Amino acid sequence: MDQVEEKRFEFGKNWHDFIQKNFDAEKVQTSKRHILQFMGRSDLNGLTVIDIGCGSGLHSIAMLDAGAARVDGFDYDPDSVRASKFVQSQAGNPANWTAEQGSVLDDAYVAKLPLYDLVYSWGVLHHTGEVWHAIQNAASRVKPGGLFYIALYSADVQKDPTPEFWLDVKRRYVASGWLRRRLMDGWYVWRFEMYRDPRNLPAFLRRVREYKKMRGMNKFTDIRDWLGGWPMEFVYDKDAIDFVEKMGFKLEKIATGEANSEFLFVRNA
Ligand SMILES: C[S@@+](CC[C@H](N)C(=O)[O-])C[C@H]1O[C@@H](n2cnc3c(N)ncnc32)[C@H](O)[C@@H]1O
Repeated sequence: MDQVEEKRFEFGKNWHDFIQKNFDAEKVQTSKRHILQFMGRSDLNGLTVIDIGCGSGLHSIAMLDAGAARVDGFDYDPDSVRASKFVQSQAGNPANWTAEQGSVLDDAYVAKLPLYDLVYSWGVLHHTGEVWHAIQNAASRVKPGGLFYIALYSADVQKDPTPEFWLDVKRRYVASGWLRRRLMDGWYVWRFEMYRDPRNLPAFLRRVREYKKMRGMNKFTDIRDWLGGWPMEFVYDKDAIDFVEKMGFKLEKIATGEANSEFLFVRNA
């Protein structure tokens, strides 16, 4: 069955729960640091930005705080938009930050968007069910000479267990009810965080504390997002680079994390 037609993971609910419980100034600074560090810049002064699949809204506010002239965010899931709007209200509803419902696969919607200095889409395009179509539409909104910062689940990283193993887990997770999902969360922690050895519990708890220093996110929110994240496709880094470069971009930087590869491209002027 087509991935898009199957039951989807409720990303937005996960983000809304996360941001309501966890939003604070420190998370904004952590996200800002991560974005600027990866981009090799000290600020985003004066840049117009679109945050595609804005999720919790945390990274939108971080980019505004880094000096972006405006940030427009959109997300397919109305609960993600609600999460972003919650963050907007916490930040005093800045006039230069919008968040609305929309799909990167909706060609007519995307075509109406302006061109931006920076198109940012972190951990989104592989969750649309049509990753190449999504990358193409997202890239189409980058100004000549502008920046394209995306993160995609990397097939290069995911060797053991295989991508097929995880796709099957995800299908089962989204088809499960609350209790079975909590059991699967526990199974994941036991098997992949504690390696089936209770003596690894302190190290796991230490990683939970350290985790929020990476992008300002929460380990358990991201475990649910990982297990449930469906639809989902894994992408080889080289395939992504070739695809984007063929559209008239040049790769500036790539960094591979636990599961995502981050790419920074510049559009030819
Ligand atoms: C893993 S989350 C990442 C959220 C955020 N970018 C971050 O880095 O925390 C993926 C997000 O992509 C959104 N999404 C999925 N399909 C989409 C689509 N077709 N158009 C726009 N957003 C989409 C989901 O609703 C979800 O909020």
